[in-house]
Amino acid sequence: MTIRLAPSILAADFAALGRDIEAATRGGADQIHVDVMDGHFVPNITIGPPVVRALRKVTTLPLDVHLMIMEPDRYLDAFVDAGANMISVHVEVLPHLHRTITQIKKLGAKAGVVLNPSTPVVAIEQVVGDVDFVLVMSVNPGFGGQVFIPNTPAKIRAVRTLLDRAGNSKAPIEVDGGVDLTTVAAVVEAGAEWLVAGNAIFSGGYDKAEAAARALKDAALAAAKGAAR
Ligand code: DX5
Ligand code: ZN
Repeated sequence: MTIRLAPSILAADFAALGRDIEAATRGGADQIHVDVMDGHFVPNITIGPPVVRALRKVTTLPLDVHLMIMEPDRYLDAFVDAGANMISVHVEVLPHLHRTITQIKKLGAKAGVVLNPSTPVVAIEQVVGDVDFVLVMSVNPGFGGQVFIPNTPAKIRAVRTLLDRAGNSKAPIEVDGGVDLTTVAAVVEAGAEWLVAGNAIFSGGYDKAEAAARALKDAALAAAKGAAR
């Protein structure tokens, strides 16, 4: 199992993203999670391709772009062109999910599908062989700082089984929402490898971000030793 820490800039200081990313990177960040929200699919509005382009200039880490928007197909080009390395799209908004996954890969990015907490695992059954990763939401998307939904580890296990059965054992599971020192072991033991964390890293401000990232990564690495995968 390969643990990767993905700090979510949603909880960082938007006027000092470069500085905050640097602190998280010193603390062991492996990729930067960018939450894109449109005010339609989720009740919040955040950022778009220009910000991704600006981030591309201040970090060499992969940019992990999570699209919480109604019509992601319209913006895939723009995000990859701006520097996105991974793009994840919500199964709930995509009638032609296979086409979207194919397009993301064709553009040269890693393609992920995202499941909301209430979306059953079976919704991705037909595409699990094609994806580069699966993102399991552990809160309802839209805001940082929400409470982790307790049945998430069971869902992670079910997704892992589905991926393995489809012969896609190399595809990792990412988990997003309420991941902190109290929940990280449970998700890692269930099989999550990419760990998104916003408030757990940035809520204490710039001065604490490096140590917070390091503590979370260390906890994840310790849990990974006991995990099955
Ligand atoms: C929620 C976003 C998350 C969010 C996580 O809609 O997708 O990435 O930033 O924030 P925390 O870690 O604070 O729950
Ligand atoms: Zn996210």
